[in-house]
Amino acid sequence: MAQTLNLTITADVLTPAELSADEARCWQAAQAATDHAYAPYSHFHVGAALLLDDDSIAWNTNQENAAYPSGLCAERTVLFGLNGQPGRTVKLMAVAARPQNGEFVAVTSCGACRQVMAESESRQAQPIPLLLPGPNGTIWRFRSLADLLPFQFMSDVLPARG
Ligand code: THU
Repeated sequence: MAQTLNLTITADVLTPAELSADEARCWQAAQAATDHAYAPYSHFHVGAALLLDDDSIAWNTNQENAAYPSGLCAERTVLFGLNGQPGRTVKLMAVAARPQNGEFVAVTSCGACRQVMAESESRQAQPIPLLLPGPNGTIWRFRSLADLLPFQFMSDVLPARG
C-alpha cells in the first residue's frame, strides 16, 4: 500500500493581551509600518518588523512600482535589507496588513516570501518565531519561519561549485 505523508504545523492562537512585551513591540512596529507602505496600485498596505538581537526593531513595507512585477512585498523588503548587514540575529518577525484606509486584516505571507523567510532563517543558528494576524483580531504565533513553507526548495540540491 502507498505510504502517506502527514504534516502537522503548530501555531499558538493568541489575543493581543497574551503577547510578551517584546512580542507586542514587534507586533506594533509591523502595524505602524503599514502607514509607510508605498502601495499606490493595490492600495493594500503591508508592514513587516524584525526584533533583533540587540532588541532594536527593523521594519519595512511593501514597495510597488508602475512596472508592477518590479514591486516587492514587505516581508522580503525588510529581510533583504537586514541580510545585507552581516552579523545580525533575528529573534522575532511580525507582519501586519490593511487596506489603505481600512482596518487591519488577517493575512498570511505569499509563497515567494515564504521561500525567502525560510532561507533567511537558515542563515542563523536559532529559529525565528513569526506573528501573523489571524481572524477576529487573534494573532497566530508560529514557532519558526520554515513552518510556513513545508517542502521549501533547499540549496543543498544545487551542484557544488567547481
Ligand atoms: N504583499 C506583501 O507585502 N506581502 C505579502 O505576503 C503578500 C502581498 C503586498 C504586495 C503588493 O504590494 C500588495 O501586497 C498586494 O498584493
